[in-house]
Amino acid sequence: MMEALEAIMTRKSVREFGYQPMPEDTLKKLLAAGMQAPSGRKGMPWHFVVVSDRGALSRVKEFHPHAAMAADASVGILVCADTTNKKSKEYFAQDCAAATENILLAAHALGMGGVWTGVYPNEQRMESFRKMLDIPAHIAPVSFAVIGFSKKKEIAEPRYDGERVHNEKW
Ligand SMILES: Cc1cc2nc3c(=O)[nH]c(=O)nc-3n(C[C@H](O)[C@H](O)[C@H](O)COP(=O)(O)O)c2cc1C
Repeated sequence: MMEALEAIMTRKSVREFGYQPMPEDTLKKLLAAGMQAPSGRKGMPWHFVVVSDRGALSRVKEFHPHAAMAADASVGILVCADTTNKKSKEYFAQDCAAATENILLAAHALGMGGVWTGVYPNEQRMESFRKMLDIPAHIAPVSFAVIGFSKKKEIAEPRYDGERVHNEKW
């Protein structure tokens, strides 16, 4: 397994998958990584809807064209927030974003690939996921992490930019 900094620096969005089913132990590790994320006031507002059904994964593109790659993925993990969680009121989107990135990094470290597809705050995508997956109204779908086996080896370009760094003051 990759060490943390290597995983961060070499991760890249993967959008072309050769279908293989998701190994059960890998899925558990991805979900555990998601739940290990930091969250405001330790509110942990997240819930994860795991979609492995290939028919369902193919239908996502009907309402989210930028998630069409899900059709060949092993799994889609819809990272959702419970909006009734009082601790997480203002922070649920950031909390779920942190969980999503943890999932993507864990997938990469374990030899799989994935891509974050945006859901919140797009009402139409949120409502379509709610309908498709029987999600109650107080649950906000925040992101759909699409994970699978990459068709090709992707190389991440370095993005460090010293001009974005301000020492002590702007
Ligand atoms: C909030 C958010 C929403 C995104 N939505 C999509 C999406 O709907 N479809 C997609 O293919 N990629 C999506 N991406 C992935 C970005 O396009 C990608 O991270 C960016 O181009 C940088 O490339 P990299 O991930 O390979 O470093 C999203 C990323 C974020 C953080």
